[in-house]
Amino acid sequence: MAWVTLNRPEKRNAMNPTLNRRMHGVLDELEDDERCGVLVLTGAGTSFSAGMDLKEYFRETEAKGHIAIRRAQRDAYGWWRRLRWFEKPTIAMVNGWCFGGAFAPLFSCDLAIAAEEAQFGLSEINWGILPGGNVTKVVAELLSRREAMYYTLTGDTFDGRQAAEMKLVNRAVPLSELRETVRQLADKLLEKNPATLKAAKDALKRVTEMTVDASEDYLVVRQESLNYLDSSDGRKEGIRQFIDEKSYKPGLGAYDRSKSES
Ligand code: COA
Repeated sequence: MAWVTLNRPEKRNAMNPTLNRRMHGVLDELEDDERCGVLVLTGAGTSFSAGMDLKEYFRETEAKGHIAIRRAQRDAYGWWRRLRWFEKPTIAMVNGWCFGGAFAPLFSCDLAIAAEEAQFGLSEINWGILPGGNVTKVVAELLSRREAMYYTLTGDTFDGRQAAEMKLVNRAVPLSELRETVRQLADKLLEKNPATLKAAKDALKRVTEMTVDASEDYLVVRQESLNYLDSSDGRKEGIRQFIDEKSYKPGLGAYDRSKSES
């Protein structure tokens, strides 16, 4: 597994154009690295990320003009999109502050575990912009309409425990247990067939935008494409170990992948 740490703790890991550009390279490298079966995104120090860098991403880029703004947006939105469709499962480990633009990579990650002590906020309203960078879409997708509107308009902060109650994250645990909790979750994912994980996570994201009939058809085709992509023929091995070998129960855990890969 790979731990990716946003590493500008002195600026609370605010995302500046340099960080955003660098993240493309990081994702490219890890997608191709067999040692990375799960990606965990977190922040250095007391912050997950304080959102977009108000000085470098907004003020300095705006001073350079329209083309510079579009380029900076492309770099930021681009790595969040890359992360959304990353080849391996991704987990956001929210260790501290999570403001504004930080909701975008939070949403991009398939799963999210927060420290109970973490503080979240849609702070845009406090300094005079609407939550752009698709953050408005993110909260519309992840929160109830009432919660999304409340936090968009008030900019109030909420903690990790509340984030879990609102289903913005899967779980909140004390900060002292955060890393171990995330490691255990990653270990659970690492037991599964990686080709199936990718197909399953993409499928879940795609079907939310489809009609029932379109999704029914898409899932048939996606499974058939998975049959082709999964060179280990995992599903046949999974059936064999249950029906013939009786060595595991699919209801209670994953089949032993080492038997089909050796
Ligand atoms: N953009 C640019 N710089 C930022 C930043 C951001 N989003 N968030 C923090 N920083 C910088 C501060 O300017 C400060 O820089 P300095 O040391 O050169 O003065 C440094 O990071 C530390 O910030 P500070 O405010 O002193 O830290 P704190 O721990 O007391 O407070 C926050 C942390 C996150 C509550 C506070 O920094 C904050 O409100 N940041 C802005 C959050 C925001 O609105 N983000 C949304 C952007 S879309």
